[in-house]
Amino acid sequence: MDKVEKVRECWDNLAFEYDYKNSPKWFWTNPEAWAREIDRRISDSDGNKILDVGCGAGVISIPLSSRFAVTSLDFSSKMLLQLKSRKEDMECELEIINADAHQLPFKDESFDFVVCRFAVWPLHEPQRAISEMARVAKKKIIIMEGDWHKTKITLRHKIFGRPVYNFHFLLYKLRTGREPKKQFEEMKKYHKSSTSLEKIKEWLKNCEVEIKEVDYSLKERVSTKKSKFLRAITGFEEEMFVLVGEVMKNEGKT
Ligand SMILES: C[S@@+](CC[C@H](N)C(=O)[O-])C[C@H]1O[C@@H](n2cnc3c(N)ncnc32)[C@H](O)[C@@H]1O
Repeated sequence: MDKVEKVRECWDNLAFEYDYKNSPKWFWTNPEAWAREIDRRISDSDGNKILDVGCGAGVISIPLSSRFAVTSLDFSSKMLLQLKSRKEDMECELEIINADAHQLPFKDESFDFVVCRFAVWPLHEPQRAISEMARVAKKKIIIMEGDWHKTKITLRHKIFGRPVYNFHFLLYKLRTGREPKKQFEEMKKYHKSSTSLEKIKEWLKNCEVEIKEVDYSLKERVSTKKSKFLRAITGFEEEMFVLVGEVMKNEGKT
């Protein structure tokens, strides 16, 4: 099995973690709040076709599908099975596509908007995948991603934070019987993430996408009260951002 297959297997094993109704996961942030971050950035533009790249089990696809025509794409069949069962259970209208983000099976400019939440860092050739996103997008690309290398591990976090988070993970294991951390550890053997805001900006600029907005304050809006409380105690802060790029390849065309 090659490295990509190994990584895909890890994502398959994580499918339940990304379920829209996995309440222990959504202890930290709120799926509807994430979708609102996208909604308010596109609702003024014409068009309603959205492609969600690396959609997982549909955390943002599901809430967006009540207002937009959503196509959800991922290369993990288990993630997509999870999404399919929620789609049926919640009676959502959305299209599910099993494909690799590095080779999107769509014609140029098939979608008004391409969105991608925490699915750039897992890519083994991010520039290639971002070029594909720019090819199939007509208007905007919205990427939500972490700037993990900026995370500072303070003494307060070491003393108070780690025990609190370890306790949380233990409760999660007792409640669900699962240990997602192990899958991420396994994944690190085959894929080293090195994404950052600067790199994503560069990859987008290379395919004629102009950066219109970068907002690091979204964490405050998507976090639950419980997670804000825990962060205040532990001092643990992870940097994450939402970036909006405008596709410029159509500029000047009549
Ligand atoms: C961190 S999860 C994020 C899932 C979802 N966007 C969310 O916010 O819950 C990353 C997702 O990217 C998918 N993924 C990773 N590499 C991919 C690739 N090359 N093509 C398509 N999907 C990929 C994984 O299967 C996984 O579902």
